[in-house]
Amino acid sequence: MRGIVLLSVLLLATFQLTLSITDGLLDNGNFELSPKATEMNGTVVKGRYAIPKWEISGFVEYIKSGQKQGDMLLVVPEGACAVRLGNEASIKQRVKVSKGQYYSITFCAARTCAQEERLNVSVPPDFGILPIQTLYGSNGWDCYSWAFLAPLNEVDIIVHNPGVEEDPACGPLIDSIALKALVSPKPTSANLIRNPSFETGPFMFNTTTGVLVPPNIEDDHSPLPYWMVESLKAVKYIDSDHFSVPHGKRAVELVAGKESAIAQVVRTIPKKTYVLTFLVGDANNACEGSMVIEAFAGRDTVKVPYQSKGKGGSKPGLLKFVATQSRTRIMFLSTYYSMRTDDFSSLCGPVLDNVRLVSLRKPT
Ligand SMILES: *[C@@H]1O[C@H](CO)[C@@H](O)[C@H](O)[C@H]1NC(C)=O
Ligand SMILES: *[C@@H]1O[C@H](CO)[C@@H](O)[C@H](O)[C@H]1NC(C)=O
Ligand SMILES: *[C@@H]1O[C@H](CO)[C@@H](O)[C@H](O)[C@H]1NC(C)=O
Repeated sequence: MRGIVLLSVLLLATFQLTLSITDGLLDNGNFELSPKATEMNGTVVKGRYAIPKWEISGFVEYIKSGQKQGDMLLVVPEGACAVRLGNEASIKQRVKVSKGQYYSITFCAARTCAQEERLNVSVPPDFGILPIQTLYGSNGWDCYSWAFLAPLNEVDIIVHNPGVEEDPACGPLIDSIALKALVSPKPTSANLIRNPSFETGPFMFNTTTGVLVPPNIEDDHSPLPYWMVESLKAVKYIDSDHFSVPHGKRAVELVAGKESAIAQVVRTIPKKTYVLTFLVGDANNACEGSMVIEAFAGRDTVKVPYQSKGKGGSKPGLLKFVATQSRTRIMFLSTYYSMRTDDFSSLCGPVLDNVRLVSLRKPT
């Protein structure tokens, strides 16, 4: 008996150790450890292993905050350094993970002069092409998330610029790359929605930028477990340390109007009546005015208006429906586009949180 107790304590300890090691910045994930001067030519990194902890390939530049490019002043979101990936350039780091576990990668990127910038984030054989053309924040930098299922106990994390621009100095800047194990939230009988309050999601940096959850490609794993971001644009994942969040510590901000919808498919029993409830609010980020969240459950829909003063707050929304299928798609989007009143160039929108779905005992 004592043996079993000891064993389970050990197992628990190992399990927690594995998780705690992987949550946070990768080694030199913010690029603050710089290459030796002898391994640089101007800003261009020459050696394959010149950037501590990383392996590079192609035209990679090491950028310091305040550096100029033409008449553009380059800023770095965290610390003082970042890297730039030229055409077909990539950076790679090998990390220890647990086989069969889901992980999310968070990184920040800034578009420079190229129009159609995309990044290929991969943990072979999985990869995701993330468009970084739309600017959501105002300082040029946005943080993105992507998820993968670890195929082995050790994987390569690669960020690659698949671009083919005439000027290699037009490639995107990259900073702050972090990893987080996604521990699947347990379903409860009291709520048919999984990860209902968005508490499980990508790693968040200690900044006010939030993290974008890009549209999921078919069969891709979501960095926001059980939720799919549909249509063209991203939703923003926000935390209660830097934003007003209606419930728990996390929520999503619908920043791209009708161009971004977030959905989850749930099992339902045809002819049974269900009640969907949720909170609609604002993130206390100077996003003011009339907002509307549209909720859909199969073919039923409701519009919940919310008048935002940009200072935080929320109100409940409700949609009662009779299921017609054994699976029902629950989906939310913002009817309008909003811009922050403090900088006019950051997209913002209503906040969605605490989504609940219960079935009514008797059809009414
Ligand atoms: C450094 O780069 C310049 C311009 O691209 C090139 O002309 C020069 O040969 C390079 N120097 C070394 C030591 O590689
Ligand atoms: C993305 O990168 C992975 C591996 O790093 C590669 O196998 C894949 O072909 C790349 N995809 C594109 C579209 O460049
Ligand atoms: C987050 O950033 C703020 C302001 O820069 C700082 O005061 C705080 O200590 C940081 N928190 C953590 C956990 O690093």
